[in-house]
Amino acid sequence: MTDKLEKIVSLCKRRGFVFPGSEIYGGLSGFYDYGPLGVELMNNVKQSWRHEMLRRQDNIFELDSSIIMQRQVWEASGHTSAGFTDPLCECKKCHRRYRADHLEEEGISKCPNCGGELMEPRKFNLLVETYIGPVKDDSSLTYLRGETTQGIYVNYKNVKTSMSAELPFGIAQIGKAFRNEITPGHFIYRMREFEQMEQQHFVKPEDAERFFDYWKNERMRWYLELGIKKERLKFHSHTKDELAHYAKTAEDIYYQFPFGWHEMEGIHNRGDWDLSRHSEFSGQDLSETDEQTGEKFYPYIIETSAGADRASLAFLCDAYSEDTDNKRVVLKLHPKLAPYKAAVFPLLRNKPNLVNKAREVYLKLKKDREGPIVWDDRGNIGKRYYSQDEIGTPMCVTIDFDTLNDDTVTVRDRDTMEQKRVHISELAALIEKAVK
Ligand code: GAP
Repeated sequence: MTDKLEKIVSLCKRRGFVFPGSEIYGGLSGFYDYGPLGVELMNNVKQSWRHEMLRRQDNIFELDSSIIMQRQVWEASGHTSAGFTDPLCECKKCHRRYRADHLEEEGISKCPNCGGELMEPRKFNLLVETYIGPVKDDSSLTYLRGETTQGIYVNYKNVKTSMSAELPFGIAQIGKAFRNEITPGHFIYRMREFEQMEQQHFVKPEDAERFFDYWKNERMRWYLELGIKKERLKFHSHTKDELAHYAKTAEDIYYQFPFGWHEMEGIHNRGDWDLSRHSEFSGQDLSETDEQTGEKFYPYIIETSAGADRASLAFLCDAYSEDTDNKRVVLKLHPKLAPYKAAVFPLLRNKPNLVNKAREVYLKLKKDREGPIVWDDRGNIGKRYYSQDEIGTPMCVTIDFDTLNDDTVTVRDRDTMEQKRVHISELAALIEKAVK
């Protein structure tokens, strides 16, 4: 693990963002639990995505489909066959397992653990199996969804008909997905249980290229507007070898993580693969008829597929900074993403009149605006600033002796450390403006 990633992992554990899954039993590789601040961050990421896809864009509908579906869904989608496999190779000596393609990328031909010889790679399916009902046999076998997308295709006609939607239109969904990754790693980058934010845009075939370009740019804009540094983002076009079994063309948005440039989101032109396959396997006709020519066609699908965990990791990595001059660590998260929007403290914790006034301001702010405001009266004021900087709280509000006379407070900015005096009545609007 890189030095920077190690520091982020440690901060995440110490400050309640992310904990290793099943930790008291020794952990479970590829699973993590989000703590109180991690839940806030993830919710902010998901809320921002939802706002972007459903409120700012036109003609997109939200769906929440079930995690477990009929097994045929995964046969139709191609996930049970060679399409959803990774090459697995095992060491003949220590029996550790690796992704053959990852070793190849790094030019490694022997076992990285013991130097032993590696077996020939074999295909390993990533779907996580489960059984439904009391009898555990082949007839009750199905899978936890490997991508949220398939629930959208299965409901294509339901959404179209109930919402009177006409092409082009989109269906968006946020939810958990599961993959039996051979080598989960890089903290929350590659997990076995993770959350996706996917949108499928159904278009006429002749419009597919135009929408592909449109969504590429829109999705990049989202990351930039949430403050990710431009120089740490780039597009990566899939070569023929990299293309998923369903994709005609694909471009990933890459982020420069501390462990290198890696995929954060995929934009795919899935052509007519999905609707034609689900028509064939389900026996339900999911095609459309061209009003002018009367010809039948399957809509093409332009997919934007983001990971909420991966995006959160990128936001954390991008925001993490060490201000050596002031001996502080600052998470310069966009205020929209910051777990707490403001912290309120009394200058001194042993002065009841200051504490009472500070509680009053704190409780009023909690009522006046949505979004978490935090109370902090531990240690001295310097330690409280340090503590809030480290979790990305954009502003700290201090109630001092002047507040008791004139109802003004000190507001300190996380990034510039500048302090200004404002009236209590202005606080809610000030926070609102920062979060916009
Ligand atoms: N529906 C298309 C699809 O699932 P993908 O490229 O396999 O495409 C899309 O995954 C996104 O889901 C990735 O860019 C990533 O953000 C997230 N993702 C995929 N596998 C993941 C994993 N094992 N752990 C965390 N996030 C993952």
